[in-house]
Amino acid sequence: MSNPASPERLDKLVILNGIDPVLSGKLASLSIESSVDSTNSAIQRLPVADQHTAVILAEQQTTGRGRRGRRWHSPFGRNLYLSLGWTFEGSLAELGCLPLVVALSTARALSRAGLNGHKIKWPNDILLDGRKLCGCLVEMQLDSKGCSRAVMGIGINVDMPESEAGIEIDQPWTDLHSRLPDCSRNTIAAPLLEELIKNLDIFTSKGFAPFVPLWKQLDGLYGQRIEVFASERSHKGIAAGIDASGALLLDTGSELLSLHSGEVSLRRV
Ligand code: BTN
Repeated sequence: MSNPASPERLDKLVILNGIDPVLSGKLASLSIESSVDSTNSAIQRLPVADQHTAVILAEQQTTGRGRRGRRWHSPFGRNLYLSLGWTFEGSLAELGCLPLVVALSTARALSRAGLNGHKIKWPNDILLDGRKLCGCLVEMQLDSKGCSRAVMGIGINVDMPESEAGIEIDQPWTDLHSRLPDCSRNTIAAPLLEELIKNLDIFTSKGFAPFVPLWKQLDGLYGQRIEVFASERSHKGIAAGIDASGALLLDTGSELLSLHSGEVSLRRV
């Protein structure tokens, strides 16, 4: 149960003991920081050779980053802030679906922790009752050897009640404790890492095709009327799933547009 006076601390051993040893054996490192600027930045500061499969969690982020230049509210001891480094052979062009794989992994981990009814808002927000529960920030860089270095950062609101005053977040949010009051951050971190490692291995060898059925089940936009803002233009239409590259399909009535996540923001209308 949430107890702001003495939040349960993140515990490396509890997390590692909750992960299948075959999967935890694939991690290069797992560290827990008390306070960092951003767990994504902390991974990016590691020597390049140490970044692949390195995991950093933090009790607090002082400048947690969200997508599209937003900040990510990251108070001490309340929520989960986790980043994982992964190096892919090949160019960034093949990794358009990576943010979707991260969202699917997070959604699966939440289901395993006992949550149901959550949905993904393309490309990788996880919503519960239409309110934001988790966000994922995937940052990628091409290195001089032609490999793509990705850092996947996941923020899950665990203990941040909707009713809490004084929080400046520009959209409705919710937290895991609203549904699962006894779910601890350590308990959710273990399945999250399992799902990420397992799914990134599959994505590396087989691409996005194996994930399409799960995406269809969790696609919270499918069939909804939305407005998409792209390159100073807006398009209204019905969300029609994704294409093979992970782009959002928008049926405007006169054409089927395919929109890439770096370029757009959207809202339901
Ligand atoms: C979003 O929805 O805008 C993405 C939010 C991503 C937040 C996580 S918390 C862990 C990692 N470190 C960061 O600075 N950001 C991501």
